[in-house]
Amino acid sequence: MKVTLITGASVGIGEAIARQIAQQKENLVLVARSEQALQLLCKTLTQQFGIKADYITADLCKPESAEFIYQTCKERGYEVESLINNAGMGSGGELIMRDLQHELNMMLLNMNAMVSLTHFFLKDMAVRKRGTIVNIGSLLSFIPAPYMAVYCATKAFVRSFSRALYEEAKPHGVHVLLFCPGLTDSNFIQGSAVDEKTANALTAGVRAQTPEQVATEFIKAYKEKRKFAISGGFNRFGAKILSILSDATIAGQTAKTYRKRML
Ligand SMILES: NC(=O)c1ccc[n+]([C@@H]2O[C@H](COP(=O)([O-])OP(=O)(O)OC[C@H]3O[C@@H](n4cnc5c(N)ncnc54)[C@H](OP(=O)(O)O)[C@@H]3O)[C@@H](O)[C@H]2O)c1
Repeated sequence: MKVTLITGASVGIGEAIARQIAQQKENLVLVARSEQALQLLCKTLTQQFGIKADYITADLCKPESAEFIYQTCKERGYEVESLINNAGMGSGGELIMRDLQHELNMMLLNMNAMVSLTHFFLKDMAVRKRGTIVNIGSLLSFIPAPYMAVYCATKAFVRSFSRALYEEAKPHGVHVLLFCPGLTDSNFIQGSAVDEKTANALTAGVRAQTPEQVATEFIKAYKEKRKFAISGGFNRFGAKILSILSDATIAGQTAKTYRKRML
């Protein structure tokens, strides 16, 4: 059976994307750690849209999870036509004050899991000469922001990886989309283990979208087979401004702004 696999689909942007994809009548395999949430979502989507929806629980920080997910799909007879690498976590605050294990887990989830899953599923897509890989980046992939240094670096990795992979995958008939949301009202801040003061300092004055708004923009880019899209007009405008500034200027100005707010 042909399926679309979405990681991080238990809540937030991934859940909203799953609903929109189900509306397109694509069968789904949803991945996250929270079994109950996945089970409930699969039941709802099956009833609401008449599709087949299944789930695999896995901790994507574990190096063996990508192969486990790939093998489970094989065993269940799924042909993954689209892979949406959405699962991710954030961070915030001064690196020396952060829990190192959190930062390393974030790197494993935001980068290693994405590369590993892509490695496994892209091979099969290349053989079939069709398929889509979507990587969820971030507006912050354009911003080397102090006090979010590791998170921004992981998303810069996602951006570079996806842009390059687009060209590698093209001769195999496989499409790659890099989709970048800006600040979104989800569980993301809670999952980032950031204290309230730091979270407020890092997000003050930034307009947030809802996961549903992000998913609506996502589905348009997905259906139009775009290679790159940023969610939200104000975020697209922000990215344009950022593109004319040097990394040093962006980092320097961002540091000044955040420092004032954190004091
Ligand atoms: N929210 C924002 O402001 C924002 C802005 C730009 C980009 N993004 C990106 O958008 C994506 C989705 O973020 P979100 O805002 O929807 O965050 P979220 O509400 O925190 O959801 C994160 C999802 O990832 C899953 N996940 C987390 N750790 C995992 C692990 N170790 N193994 C497997 N699954 C895991 C979570 O499920 P379980 O907890 O059940 O495992 C959940 O389904 C991320 O890549 C994020 O970097 C978010």
